[in-house]
Amino acid sequence: MRIVVCCTGMKAAPWVAGLEAALPGAVVEEWQAGAPPADHAVVWAPPQQLFDEQPRLKGIFNMGAGVDALLQLRLPPEAALVRLDDAGMSVQMAEFVCHALIRHFRELDGYEQDAAQGRWSFRRPRSRAEFPVGVMGLGVLGQRVAQAVAAFEFPVRGWSRTARAIEGVQCFAGPAQFDAFLAGTRVLVNLLPLTPETENIMNRATLGRLLPGGYVINVARGAHLVDEDLLALVDGGHLAGAALDVFRTEPLPPAHPFWRHPKITVTPHTSARTLRDESIAQIARKVRAFDRGEPVAGVVDLSRGY
Ligand code: NAP
Ligand code: GLV
Repeated sequence: MRIVVCCTGMKAAPWVAGLEAALPGAVVEEWQAGAPPADHAVVWAPPQQLFDEQPRLKGIFNMGAGVDALLQLRLPPEAALVRLDDAGMSVQMAEFVCHALIRHFRELDGYEQDAAQGRWSFRRPRSRAEFPVGVMGLGVLGQRVAQAVAAFEFPVRGWSRTARAIEGVQCFAGPAQFDAFLAGTRVLVNLLPLTPETENIMNRATLGRLLPGGYVINVARGAHLVDEDLLALVDGGHLAGAALDVFRTEPLPPAHPFWRHPKITVTPHTSARTLRDESIAQIARKVRAFDRGEPVAGVVDLSRGY
């Protein structure tokens, strides 16, 4: 079995070594133009040229959960596209979202500013009941986040494409229930995949339906959010602010207003990182299952786009 590795922005050598160790007998090499035909590709942000030169790939294993960028390329029609399933991401996402939520709810930024001025002052405790949290996307990551938020005793609601039942989470599904989901949500957490249906889903109309004093935590993709609509709603006072981890253009350009907005927190697409060892172990397990003809979790449904 021959595997090519191509990961733009990451070092390929540790992935090659890790996959070789996990798949004894496989030939694993960093992809280069003109490489011999491979059975599988393990990729992050590869160039179109890789797929043009490797039309016989059987499996394309993404080193991340989101496949939106890959779906912009022309992939070999016979190849299965396989995403990472958790691989250590869901606990990171849960801690990141809970941190952003609690920092906002407990006004920790305000306390930090007070402390910087040597000021010992209290803010009035807020009621959790007035901070219902709505999680858009109840998949591998969204479910874990919804449960983690529920453990802090916030009212939690969730929205997905098909109906879900999750203990402690009031579930909504599909376009017909979207408005009702938004109307009872104060803190909106986005964990949707980026697809034609979900692009620009957070805009002036939808964010305007959140409860007054709403807060947005976007940890999925930048193109889910219409930047200027968020800014208008924050500046107009309907939204209290946002914690943004993902952006339309990454790195976020230095002149972008998000960087300096006092009510917006920016992090550099770091809420759930690909963990190399966990990911290599998962991809190796999937490659073996795939080659034995067994079902593999995380195969992307190209018609849905995730
Ligand atoms: P997933 O398991 O595929 O779950 C996707 C969820 O979104 C599912 O619940 C799905 O509904 C729902 N959904 C999809 N299209 C929808 C639509 N049109 N309307 C309503 N709900 C819809 O994905 P995941 O592993 O949780 O990852 C989610 C996203 O997080 C990734 O695609 C990626 O963009 C992002 N991500 C970001 C980072 C970061 O560091 N910032 C890291 C990893 C992932 P069903 O349940 O009905 O299928
Ligand atoms: C990161 O954003 C991922 O999709 O894994």
